[in-house]
This record gives sequence, structure tokens and C-alpha cells, in this order.
Amino acid sequence: MSRILITSALPYINGIKHLGTLAGSMLPADVYARFQRARGRETLYICATDEHGTPTELAAAEAGLDPATFCALAHAVQADLGEKFGLRWDHFGRSSSPQNHRLTQRFAQQLWEAGFIEERITQQVYSNADRRFLPDRYVIGTCPHCGYESARGDQCENCTRVLDPADLLHPRSAVSGSTDIEIRDSKHLFLRQSLFADRLRVWIDSKKGEWPLLVTSIALKWLDEGLQDRGITRDLAWGVPVNASEWGPNPDGATPDIEGLAGKVFYVWFDAPIEYIAATAEWADARAVEAGTGPAPDADWERWWRQPEAHDVKYVEFMGKDNVPFHTVGFPCTLMGANERLDAAGRWSVVNTAPWKVVDELKGFNWLDYYGGRFSTSQNRGVFMDQALELLAPDYWRWWIVANAPETSDASFVWEQFQMQVNADLADVLGNFVNRICKFAETRFEGIVPPRGEITALESRLSGDLALRLAELTQHLEDREFRKATTALRQIWVLGNGYLTEAAPWTAIKTDVARAGTVVNIGLNLVALFARLSSPFIPFAAARIADAIGEASPGPWPAPGVGSLGLPDDLEPGRPIHAPEVLFRKVENDQVAEWRARFGGPESA
Ligand code: 2FM
Ligand code: ZN
Repeated sequence: MSRILITSALPYINGIKHLGTLAGSMLPADVYARFQRARGRETLYICATDEHGTPTELAAAEAGLDPATFCALAHAVQADLGEKFGLRWDHFGRSSSPQNHRLTQRFAQQLWEAGFIEERITQQVYSNADRRFLPDRYVIGTCPHCGYESARGDQCENCTRVLDPADLLHPRSAVSGSTDIEIRDSKHLFLRQSLFADRLRVWIDSKKGEWPLLVTSIALKWLDEGLQDRGITRDLAWGVPVNASEWGPNPDGATPDIEGLAGKVFYVWFDAPIEYIAATAEWADARAVEAGTGPAPDADWERWWRQPEAHDVKYVEFMGKDNVPFHTVGFPCTLMGANERLDAAGRWSVVNTAPWKVVDELKGFNWLDYYGGRFSTSQNRGVFMDQALELLAPDYWRWWIVANAPETSDASFVWEQFQMQVNADLADVLGNFVNRICKFAETRFEGIVPPRGEITALESRLSGDLALRLAELTQHLEDREFRKATTALRQIWVLGNGYLTEAAPWTAIKTDVARAGTVVNIGLNLVALFARLSSPFIPFAAARIADAIGEASPGPWPAPGVGSLGLPDDLEPGRPIHAPEVLFRKVENDQVAEWRARFGGPESA
């Protein structure tokens, strides 16, 4: 049985995340992690805040705080919201952690000494008024491709082209607005990604048909366009400092330009994926501290990340499509490069006896939009995590988002469709079933599980149908096909309702109490089954359902064919049960009208 390592793209520290961010990474990763844990697999789900880079510095300045203070506060907010949404990370770390500083510097050193990093003199935008370089978003100007006047130095929002700050026409400082700007030479480090193009292509080709088409096609497009070497340092104060003074010579015998690299930090996209590993170290350290044994030995986290100990680990990544290039090209280059060495004659050799694992399964998502337009903080369009929780319990959002996961194309949030779907699935089908059977058992069987008598053809058919759907649901979750999984689960709930309607214990009880008892027994065991199967998707409701039938928690994922009727069969006759408070109240029309007015409707897109 394999261990499962799961990471979801690290949310940027600045700003509370909207439902679109949740849909493309953290929520499906959580559903998958909960499913794997319920199956009894050793599972580790790691996430963290992505804390470096110019957006952080700019947001901190806007908040009147230094970046470290800003990040500490913002991390606590995101951790709290994630927990309230039921995101059960094993660890929610921080890319500014000491563990990530150490690991990022170690990777950079190895990559330098192995010949995969080189120095280059680059032309950077310098602001005389601010007396500093203006990397990435610190400079704003006119896009040379489309003429958009507020393009940021790293990317044009209008035409989405990736830019270099020095490309912008009429540049001005994002700090002071000053146009007193010049281009100055600055020494920087480049990761020689182009050297990896062939092996990346072989690797990505081998994933065709296994990974979503979206993912392999984005990766191959990058390779087809010719893989560029990538600048991995910046003239910024906030970030992981470049530790060049500690590095030995590269295979050409050259040592790094310590003076030229002084005061620089690594680019956020270099250190952020390394935080997946570093956050695992944070997790191991936190556990060791909890156990009172001090900092954890490296082996505790390395067993998830380095061969040969990690041979039984399946590493699964979740992310939105914009992140795919960094995870199919950038991060794999870092990992592969740290496993090898390129000598002065251009020969490759494996130098790492404990090689790093690269991703096994990469699940990428399209966008979840709001009425066909992007969610937007500045334009106050769409729903953000804190607001969503003010309106409804997390399970409503979780269910809708997973059921509408943007897997094969972009999906759109529309209030009316949201209302219709959660009312139908959660209130009418699941909630109604649990309520009907529990209430009936309460009033007619004194709130205890009645014994099961003889089984009829109805139960045999139910059993066959359940087995089929359960196998489907399990397979879809294994395959990370979330929309299909919710369809299978909904069908299972519908089977329960159909059974009750047909078996009609309220009629049977008039003439045959034992038969009515049998149906109630089966019905309550279905409730137990639904709690288990629903738990990865709607964990809060599942916990309440389990509680109604006297279980401390929903219990493990059922193995196929378990129990005489494909049911867990664990509710012994005589056990007390109770009907839960309304599981899902219906979303009403006036609520929808109010929320649409508050958050914007189709006119806002
Ligand atoms: O796009 C984003 O939201 C990034 N913060 C994702 C980083 S993923 C990882 F590599 F750290
Ligand atoms: Zn543009």
C-alpha cells in the first residue's frame, strides 16, 4: 500500500482568497486527502502561504507594515479561514520559514556547484527617486505588445504576455510614481532550464494520457516554444538571501561573484515550490516539538521526498492552469538539477545518492469564473472565503465547487445555479433522506435501531446498485475526477431515497412491524454509509450525520463488497439514534437576490 504525498499550490500571502483559488487547488486536494486517509493510506497533505515577491512587499507597504509583520498576520488569517472551510492540511506552513531559507539556499548551492546556475549581467530598471531597483511589479508602464498603459513589469494583465521590466515603455515606479528612471546593469543568477528541455520532454511525453490533457499540453507548449533559462534572483530586500559566499567553485572552476550578488534574494518562484519540501520539514519539526523531542531528524521529512526511502510515495500536486509551467518545468529542473552534475566537458552524471522525487500525478484545473468574468478584488466582484462563510456553512460551498470543478473547461459561478444545485442535492436528496429515516425511527421505533428481518428482492437490488455506484465513486476519486465523483455520490443518495419510497416503512408498519423494522434498519445503515462516503466532500454535515446514528465519526471508506448488503452493517440492533437538526436549509430566493446585489451579477462580468 503506497503512501500519498499531496501538495496544493501555495496561496499568495497578500489578500484573502476567493472561491476560484479554492476550486483550483486547496479544496480538491483536501477532498482527495480526506478520501485517501479514509481508505487507510498514510497521507500527508502539505500547503503553505507563498510569502515572498514584490506583491508581498507592495501589500505590506500599503498596510503600513514591514513584510515580516504583514506576513505573520496574513498567514494567521488564511490558516483560520482554511480551517473553517474544513481544509485539513497536515501542515500549513510559510515560505518565509527558516526551513525554507535553509533548503532554498542548499538547492541553489548544489545547482551552482553542479553547473546548472550561471551568472549574467542584466539590465534592470532603477528608480533614482526611490534609490532602488524596481523588479517585477515595482514598475508600471505601457505594454510594448498591446499598448496597455498599466502593464506591470512581470506581466501584462491585458494581453497576458510575460514581460521584463526593462521592456515597458514610459516606465514609472509603483512605489512613488516617479518617472525618473534609468536602466542599470545588475548581476543575477540564471537557472539553465534550457539544458533540461530534452529530458523534460521525455518525462512529459510519458505522462500523456495519464495526466489531464490540459496539463501535458501546457507543458509541451512551453517546451515547443523553446525553454528559456530563468532569472532566479531579484534586487529586493524581502526574500531568501543569496548565500553565494558559502558556495564552492562550479565545474568550470569559477566561484560566484560574491560582491555582485550581495544584497539580492531569490526570485519567489524559485523558493516557493521548494517550500513544499520545507513545509514538510516544518511539519516534522512541529511534531517533534509536540512530542517533546526537539527538532526532527531530516530523515523524518526526507522519507517523503527522497529516494530510496520514498519509493512507495505517490506524489500528487493540485493547481490552477497558470501554475502548470512552474511545476512541469521550473520546479522539476530544480529537483533534477540537484540530483545531477554537468562537468566542464558537458557530461552529465548522477551525484545524488538520495535523489529527490518529482511529481507523479499532476492535477491541473481551468478557471472558476464569476458570471463568466474573472473574480476580482479591486472591482469587488465575486465571493471571497471570509464572505462565503458569513453567508452559508462551508459544506454548501464545498459541495458546489467540487461538483462544478473546472476540470475540462472554465466553469462559472452563477447564484441561481448555485441555489438550484445545493437545494436539490443537499437539502432535497441527502438532507431529506437522513431526516426522513431518522425521524421515523425516532417516532415509531423509540429512537433505537430495530433488528433486521428477512431480505426481499428490493434489498437485493439496492445492494447490487450500491455496489456498482460505490465502485464508480471510489475509482473516480482515485482518478481525481471530481465532477464524476460527485455525480456518483449523488446517485448513491438518490438510491437511498428511492429505496425508502418503494419500501415505504410508514405503510408497512400498519400491517407488518417486523418488515417496517427491517426497512428502518437498512435505512439507518444507509445513513451510516452516506456519512462515510460524503465525508471527504462535506465533512461537517457528515460528522453530524454520523453523530445522529451514534458514531463518533463517519468511519473508514467501505471496501467493495463489505457487509451483507454492500452496507457497512455496523449498526447493532438496539443502538440509540436521533434525528439531526436540519442538515441543510434551503437557499431562498430573497437570499439570492440580496447576495447578487451585494456581490454583483451578470452585469459585473
Ligand atoms: O499562483 C499562485 O497563487 C502561487 N502563489 C502558487 C505557488 S505554488 C508553489 F509553487 F509554491
Ligand atoms: Zn499587453
